[in-house]
Amino acid sequence: MAAKKACETFSKSLIEEVHRWGCLKQTGVSLRYMMEFGSKPVDKNLLISAQFLHKELAIRIARRAIELENLPYGLSQKPAVLKVRDWYLDSFRDLRAFPDIKSMNDERVFTEMIKAIKVRHNNVVPTMALGVQQLKKGMDPKIVYEDLVEIHQFLDRFYMSRIGIRMLIGQHVELHNPNPPPFVVGYIHTKMSPVEVAWNASEDARAICCREYGSAPDVQIYGDPKFTFPYVPAHLHLMVFELVKNSLRAVQERFMDSDKVAPPIRIIVADGIEDVTIKVSDEGGGIPRSGLPKIFTYLYSTARNPLDEHSDLGIGENVTMAGYGYGLPISRLYARYFGGDLQMISMEGYGTDAYLHLSRLGDSQEPLP
Ligand SMILES: Nc1ncnc2c1ncn2[C@@H]1O[C@H](COP(=O)(O)OP(=O)(O)OP(=O)(O)O)[C@@H](O)[C@H]1O
Ligand SMILES: [Mg+2]
Repeated sequence: MAAKKACETFSKSLIEEVHRWGCLKQTGVSLRYMMEFGSKPVDKNLLISAQFLHKELAIRIARRAIELENLPYGLSQKPAVLKVRDWYLDSFRDLRAFPDIKSMNDERVFTEMIKAIKVRHNNVVPTMALGVQQLKKGMDPKIVYEDLVEIHQFLDRFYMSRIGIRMLIGQHVELHNPNPPPFVVGYIHTKMSPVEVAWNASEDARAICCREYGSAPDVQIYGDPKFTFPYVPAHLHLMVFELVKNSLRAVQERFMDSDKVAPPIRIIVADGIEDVTIKVSDEGGGIPRSGLPKIFTYLYSTARNPLDEHSDLGIGENVTMAGYGYGLPISRLYARYFGGDLQMISMEGYGTDAYLHLSRLGDSQEPLP
């Protein structure tokens, strides 16, 4: 299929509008703001939130659509990337076609629409990964993919923006729940126990490990289960799940054929004043120092790649232990989204420590690429 430029499939006026909106300033919100605003989901607040999103989502989506058109190395022309760009343009068009939100009825219809936008974009990550793979295939094999700095930087911006967009939509949609569980404000849990979330995420990772290897090392968690702070449990779950999955794989691969018992993975949860830090420690042999700069790049994986052009991209149902090379860079973006960070320290020949820092104050603004 010949690659088409957006102007061949979308009207010229739409593309002009995208460029106009893409220049407008984005407005970031903090965890604390979302929590305080969402704690009173009265009609007036829902209306204000919808009016804000009507503009803000259009601005953020327009920026991404423009960037998708201008990627280096011909990435923009890869079929999978064109598909992603079309999703962004469709969503931009839906938002712009929606009239001003004046009543609660408008608000309800708008909420349904942004819910549908979120679903439309469900498979953006694996589809972009496929696009990068399509690029890789056609490239001079002498080029080292980890060196494609511009592409990694673009993907960091792109996925960070996606986390923000999905957080804003999800938060708004969830505020419509008439009977939210106690301490739940949209996606935020005002009394989230990191120990409890870490335990659930570890069990999920162990289940996959058992499925893949027939057994899984133990995971021990140290920390006060009663300690809580406001955070988004789904984000923390995702990050710990990815880290534990990596550790399980490393330990499993190292001890699979040995007669020694596989050493447990240790998770330590520390509650500081500024940060809550979660350390995931394993004795899986570590990462060689020369490999460390690569682990946060997209598509660096020492596992066999499960992505291929014929798969239906159903990443959600088809979770594997490893292979996309996305676990660490995406987890770091989630951490940074609310002002935290992720660091990896390795002792080659022994094991790896991952330090996941989560900002406790919750007042850092969303990073807006
Ligand atoms: N705890 C660890 N011990 C040893 N190597 C690790 C560890 N964590 C990560 N790595 C190395 O870093 C690479 C990148 O990790 P990352 O989680 O980003 O991708 P992946 O696990 O290969 O694939 P997936 O996208 O499925 O997570 C891994 O392939 C592995 O080589
Ligand atoms: Mg991984």
